[in-house]
Order: sequence, then C-alpha cells, then structure tokens
Amino acid sequence: MTPPASQTPALQTQALVAGYEPDLPIVRGVDLSVAPGELLVLLGPNGAGKSTLVKAIAGVVPIHSGSVTLAGRDITRIPTHRKIAEGLAFVPQTENIFATLSIHENLQIAAAVLPKPVRSEKIAALYERFPDLAAKPSRQAGTLSGGQRQMLAVARALIVDPPVIVLDEPSAGLSPKIVSEVFEMLQQINATGVTVVLVEQNVKAALAIASRAVVLVEGRIRHEGVAADLLGDPLIAKLYLGTGHSPDHSQEAEHP
Ligand SMILES: Nc1ncnc2c1ncn2[C@@H]1O[C@H](COP(=O)(O)OP(=O)(O)OP(=O)(O)O)[C@@H](O)[C@H]1O
Ligand SMILES: [Mg+2]
Repeated sequence: MTPPASQTPALQTQALVAGYEPDLPIVRGVDLSVAPGELLVLLGPNGAGKSTLVKAIAGVVPIHSGSVTLAGRDITRIPTHRKIAEGLAFVPQTENIFATLSIHENLQIAAAVLPKPVRSEKIAALYERFPDLAAKPSRQAGTLSGGQRQMLAVARALIVDPPVIVLDEPSAGLSPKIVSEVFEMLQQINATGVTVVLVEQNVKAALAIASRAVVLVEGRIRHEGVAADLLGDPLIAKLYLGTGHSPDHSQEAEHP
C-alpha cells in the first residue's frame, strides 16, 4: 500500500552526487523518495550505479553533494555505524556475514550496537523469527547455503528494529526456488511496517513483490512508477533493463 504523498518520506535523497573518486561522480543527481511502508525496487542495467547509490546512502561510498534524510532527519554526513543506530539497515551484496564465525557469533556482533542489557533478548527475538537459524546457532556461517546466508545477513540487519532496510541484490546467485523464499521473507518484513529498498537484477520477481520501482541508468533516475505498471511494460524492460531481463516476451509488440 502506498501512503499519502504528504507523509514525510521514510528515506529520501536530494540531488545526490556520489562516487569513489572526488572528480568521478557515479551517482549523478538522484532524487529518490521512499514513503513509509513502501517496498521499492531499484532496477537498472549493469554498471548503472545502483550499488553505488545504496552504498552512498549507507555511508560506505563518499557523497560529493546533495543530501540523505531518514524520516526527515539529515543523515548525509554521519558515519555508517550511526546511520544504523538512526534506523537505516543496510545489507550489502557481498561480505554481509562473517563466514568463519558461527550464526550466534554473527548475531552477537550485530547486537554490539545495542545497549548491553537488551542484546540477548533481541537475539532471542530474531531466533523466534528465523527458526532455521535457531536450529543450529553454533554452525559456522560459511557452511550455510546461499539462502540461509542471506537469511542470516537480513537477521543481522534487523537486530536494531530498523524502520528502513536497504538490500543490494539479496537474490544474487540463488536458485529460483530460494529467490522466492528470500523475497517472501522480505515481503513479511515489509508487512510488519518496515520500509524496504531492494536493488535487484531479478526484475520480474522483484516487480511482483514491490509497490513501486525506480530505474537507474548512468547514475540518474530514468523512469519510476507503480511496480505493476512496469511489469506490464515490455518496452521499459527492453530499453532500460537489458533484454535478458525483459519481463514477458510473449506479449511484446514489434519495435522495429
Ligand atoms: N570500488 C569501485 N571503485 C571505482 N569504481 C567503481 C567501484 N565499484 C563500482 N565502480 C564503478 O561504478 C559504476 C557503477 O557501478 P555499480 O556497481 O554501482 O553499478 P550497479 O548498477 O550496481 O551494477 P550491477 O548491476 O553490475 O551490480 C561502474 O562504472 C563501476 O565500474
Ligand atoms: Mg550492483
């Protein structure tokens, strides 16, 4: 459900310019507004700057200019760990768990940002939510399946009860069945009121669970709209998402 436009965005960027080198902007002036409770999917071809955008929002890529606000609070210049404490959870595409540590140790490290007295109770709440993790807390995270690893990464991010969670391609490298499980988990998280921003290459599946979609091309927003509308628009897929990601070729009109 999309809340009224008058509501303060859960997450917003204004004229955001960001990149790895000071003189080489990758994100080139992005105005992104995510309403509370939305599940927004960020799409775009390889190299469009999707990861760079979410990393800049999370504070791990330098912001050159512009702003990032979380529920109206300016978080542009604060360090990553404080962004988490402010309520912005980020699940990077890679290295989102400690592979040599156990499930429980991974959760303990994530809980370290919380006051000591509440840590074990928050971990217990996560185990209740993720029974697969609770079943074997001493198992080394590196030995988990791809889907279980993503579950652990998401569980770690949720330990602070964030109002907003941003995920960079959580379905990368997973089989279609596991992708559905991961997306179902994200829908459930969204249903509890958490605003979700999801970077995805799995266009069709992502549009099916998203309320709104934004297409990034060469560091700029090229298209945005209701997810269901994009899903039914093969031309958008063909033009901006790469032919390999076209949602439904069977209904595609000829575009000579
Ligand atoms: N660590 C880095 N240092 C310098 N340039 C980088 C770095 N990571 C990415 N880039 C460059 O930034 C641009 C955007 O890359 P980015 O990873 O944000 O794209 P993306 O949309 O996430 O692509 P993909 O769909 O492949 O994940 C590319 O030109 C890429 O070469
Ligand atoms: Mg990327």
